[in-house]
Amino acid sequence: MSADIRRIAVNTGGGDAPGLNAVIRAVVHAGIRRGWEVYGIEDGYDGLFREGGVVRLDRKAVRGITHLGGTILGTTNRGNPLKYPVKADDGSITYVDRSQEVVDRMSDHGIDALVAIGGDGALAVAHQLSLKGLRVVGVPKTIDNDLAVTTLTFGFITAVETATDAIDKLHSTAEAHERVMVVELMGRHAGWIALYAGLAGSADVILIPEIPYDIEFVCDKIRGRWEEGREFAIVVVAEGAFPRGGEPLFKQTGKGQQRLGGVAHLLAEQIEEQTGHETRDLVLGHLQRGGAPNAYDRLLALRFGAAAVRLAAEGSFGCMVALDPPEVLAVPLDVAIATTKTVPLDGDVVATARALGICLGD
Ligand code: F6P
Repeated sequence: MSADIRRIAVNTGGGDAPGLNAVIRAVVHAGIRRGWEVYGIEDGYDGLFREGGVVRLDRKAVRGITHLGGTILGTTNRGNPLKYPVKADDGSITYVDRSQEVVDRMSDHGIDALVAIGGDGALAVAHQLSLKGLRVVGVPKTIDNDLAVTTLTFGFITAVETATDAIDKLHSTAEAHERVMVVELMGRHAGWIALYAGLAGSADVILIPEIPYDIEFVCDKIRGRWEEGREFAIVVVAEGAFPRGGEPLFKQTGKGQQRLGGVAHLLAEQIEEQTGHETRDLVLGHLQRGGAPNAYDRLLALRFGAAAVRLAAEGSFGCMVALDPPEVLAVPLDVAIATTKTVPLDGDVVATARALGICLGD
């Protein structure tokens, strides 16, 4: 089957991840080579709701962006058109469904298909829009690597590299001061970044949401380090990790939202109290999302972008591109968003951590 396309659009939704610009560039080049016009919707779907928010992307517009972090189109994780926030004069917020408006505006712009780049939230929106008749191909993005059906999401490996570099740096200061350093990494409710960076950075303790931890085991490991004469320790903790019988910690933001965070601080207090060793904590935060994608993520992003255009040309809509090495395949969007991919406890990466004597908190 081949689709009758003259004009496509691309947008980026949710939190940014290194590699977004490389996907955009691949979509633009691959689309233009097929004789299509390519447009970019700014700030997720917000660009559709304002004048000038849908911009023509020609080759010049995407020149020299493969290696750039962020997204030339802008993004938002508060612009879900199915639950669009509207602020009243008194400051209160209500939510309205603007999804039909999205479909109508796309049609007003003469756009025949959309390449929607995003994580689970943005892809769930893309799925709903496709049920409303919009022709959509999704591209999986997130540093968290928690999207099912794709072996990897672009951005993840770069985030792991950034986190590993931070852990390397923490080693020298921890050793110099004979301290325990507890570093909190992103990942939401999956421990991919913490596990991979913790292993690559030779952490002594790695705590992930998939394995609720026991503080006693963590402290035993740290005491053992001092007994061996290695008088410092590195603890890597995923932001979604929690103790046995407990819950992940959230922080309330000024805007009434909840955000994961605070577990490193809590752990540091407990470790210092129970072991007597000076303990410091830090949150690596958005450093993990910023900066240039590494070569692997650039390549994956370019492959995803080119594959999305191939699928659109074939008329395969309502699906997402997915890495199934060595291929990039199409997976239905409803399947792609149905489950979260967490770290398998019987997998070889967890086995490797255990074989190296790393404490996983259990
Ligand atoms: O999903 C990506 C991610 O960076 C998570 O790891 C993190 O919990 C969240 O986004 C942070 O979101 P925000 O940028 O809205 O603080």
